[in-house]
Amino acid sequence: MAFYFCYDKEILKKLHGALSKGNEWAHDRSMIIAVLSQKELDCVMKDGRVYYQFDSGLATGLLMLRATELGLVTHAIAGYDPVKVREVLSIPENMEVITLIITGKQLQTLVS
Ligand SMILES: Cc1cc2nc3c(=O)[nH]c(=O)nc-3n(C[C@H](O)[C@H](O)[C@H](O)COP(=O)(O)O)c2cc1C
Repeated sequence: MAFYFCYDKEILKKLHGALSKGNEWAHDRSMIIAVLSQKELDCVMKDGRVYYQFDSGLATGLLMLRATELGLVTHAIAGYDPVKVREVLSIPENMEVITLIITGKQLQTLVS
């Protein structure tokens, strides 16, 4: 799996165009982390069970926990167009965009 940290303002602007209606609140956050993976990059059991989404969820949870420790605020979303996200970030078609983690600073950090 891979985390793609997007903080370049131009890239962020393009990613905003891939967000679903209702997620406009994410436009003023300073970073979007794309969580990417594919079935073959992780454990595939002989009986067909696959683990890439489970493991991506574990890693994402830990990332969000660490970000919180660092004073950031994270919010995972599924409301985006994965085709557009792939286009903007030049992600190969065989990689799934599992979630986007909208990341910003705590309001109290901004005003202090
Ligand atoms: C699968 C999934 C998809 C989600 N997609 C969105 C989304 O597109 N936009 C959004 O604002 N929240 C979305 N959420 C909700 C947030 O991730 C979060 O869980 C929710 O806002 C509760 O957060 P809070 O406990 O910090 O208030 C989604 C949650 C899940 C589980």
